[in-house]
Amino acid sequence: MCGIVGYIGARNATPIILGGLKKLEYRGYDSAGVAVIHGNQIEVRREAGKLSQLVDLIGKSPIDGAPGIGHTRWATHGAPSAKNAHPHLGNSGKMVVVHNGIVENFLELKAELDGEGITFNSDTDTETIVHLAECQRAGGTSFEEAARRTFKRIHGANVVVLISTDEPDKIIAARIGNAGGVVIGLGEGENFIASDIPAILEHTRRVIFLESRQMAVVTKDSVELTTLDGQKITPEIHSIAYDAVSAEKGEYRHFMQKEIHEQVRALTDTVAGRVDFQEGRIRLPELKLTSELAKRIQRIYITACGTAAYAGMVGKYLIEKIARIPVEVVIASEFRYSDPIVDENTVVMAISQSGETADTLAAMEEGRKKGAIIWSIVNAIGSQAMRVSDGTISMQTGPEIGVASTKAFTAPLVDQYMLAILLADLRGTLDEKTRKELVADLRLIPDVAGRTLDTESQVEKIAYELKDISGCLYLGRGINMPIAYEGALKLKEISYVHAEGYPAGEMKHGPIALIDEEMPVICLALQDPWHEKMISQIQQAKARGGTVIAVATEGDQLVADMADHVLWIPKIPWMLSPIISVFPLQMLAYHIAAIRGLDVDQPRNLAKSVTVE
Ligand code: F6R
Repeated sequence: MCGIVGYIGARNATPIILGGLKKLEYRGYDSAGVAVIHGNQIEVRREAGKLSQLVDLIGKSPIDGAPGIGHTRWATHGAPSAKNAHPHLGNSGKMVVVHNGIVENFLELKAELDGEGITFNSDTDTETIVHLAECQRAGGTSFEEAARRTFKRIHGANVVVLISTDEPDKIIAARIGNAGGVVIGLGEGENFIASDIPAILEHTRRVIFLESRQMAVVTKDSVELTTLDGQKITPEIHSIAYDAVSAEKGEYRHFMQKEIHEQVRALTDTVAGRVDFQEGRIRLPELKLTSELAKRIQRIYITACGTAAYAGMVGKYLIEKIARIPVEVVIASEFRYSDPIVDENTVVMAISQSGETADTLAAMEEGRKKGAIIWSIVNAIGSQAMRVSDGTISMQTGPEIGVASTKAFTAPLVDQYMLAILLADLRGTLDEKTRKELVADLRLIPDVAGRTLDTESQVEKIAYELKDISGCLYLGRGINMPIAYEGALKLKEISYVHAEGYPAGEMKHGPIALIDEEMPVICLALQDPWHEKMISQIQQAKARGGTVIAVATEGDQLVADMADHVLWIPKIPWMLSPIISVFPLQMLAYHIAAIRGLDVDQPRNLAKSVTVE
């Protein structure tokens, strides 16, 4: 979603802001802008399109000064255009705002401001914020107090950052609800504000996170934190050990390709330090799971969005099979509207790469309200999802930049496998031999993962054959059914090809009508308990003229004889198979999109972290 960067200090803010926005560009990218205070004036540059277009504009028409604020936008109100790009100036020209979120009472506020004769220069909801703040200042109220009053009038989940020529020694930032993060970076005689850590990492590793309904008044030497009601808060300073270097593309054409290949390391790191292979035991200390708690749990809700929800569907199989605890997976945007049956013996577990997806945070909040135990599996260090959880499993993947999630899909599969073993162990429901076998199987992952990634050139050849398709079906059963969903999602989001994931057994109840010579069918036909059923599915698709691409276990002659193409994976115990069977589908989607010449890392209409409902 939108990216925000702010700077206050002695340096020129413009290059610092542009550098930070570049690191956040993956969040939202239909337009961008920067505003700085120069002398007694606010100078603004805004441009539609990619950040590079704003950089060109500033190259031709430079601005310098400080403090400054900048923004990359993912449109919610008003088309992506220069006019609607942030920052937005107030009518006096003395105050300017950037914003992430949706002002839910925008129409009501706009009507009020219209009534006062305020001129609107954009179609955004954001503009109401700066006009409101200027109105609050009218009677000589301080910038801080005017901002506070304004923040209190805004409904919904929003992050707002303001600067003003009246008090140019301050940046004021607020987090109103769960609209994504606000991190304040602490420098020497300078300070930074950003939506996410990578934007300021090259300047500082000492940061303060803003919680919901908090605001910060930031000068070059100080940060004052209060609640929106004005209560002072002592800021907690975190030190970030974060590998900025891994946020570079290196030898790969795209971040997505790099991140697909990083899965071997990510999965190895996921297991490392958490498994005692000798004893056959799992350690997940951040989860703070005791045997008393494990025995108390009667139900687990896994809640997440998109790819993360599909990871949760695999988790359901694993936890139910190994730990015998009932698990329901509920899409986060539905969770709080479904009146879930939750009590103090229920776990609500969120899965989120960014840890700041608004729907997921709202689902966690709902769980909290109803008294549940809140867990999360999260990638982004220090994110809101991590901070509001009773226990966490942090993904060991490093930053994921490509919008289409890959390594942040497979890491939580391993996390949930380990969680299932730990739960069963602590509940005393797993015999020692089975436990040791399940744990020992984790050793297989790096080798099998590496060998599967080595098949990339064969996957690429099949991608060439499929490059012009206009639709595709993905079928799976059992634990590999969610992989059919995930494979289809990967294809549609980066190739813009309509793709549908389906439980294979449901085909005969309708979707089989879609199959003809034009419709490739991708079948996950692994050597798992559903193998025979998938074989008959391949036969049915072939009988209707469909081209079948199977994902199969090496050496499976039956599948080789029937399918038109096979994407092979090495033998692996079926409970771990989804971790690997998704690799060929990630690579296939990647290569189809790359062959089509599409913007793989920043597909149209999408954003990396979705901080609006
Ligand atoms: C698809 C994708 C999305 C995310 C979803 C949740 O490739 O990345 O479907 O999985 O938006 O995001 P997080 O995991 O950040 O909560």
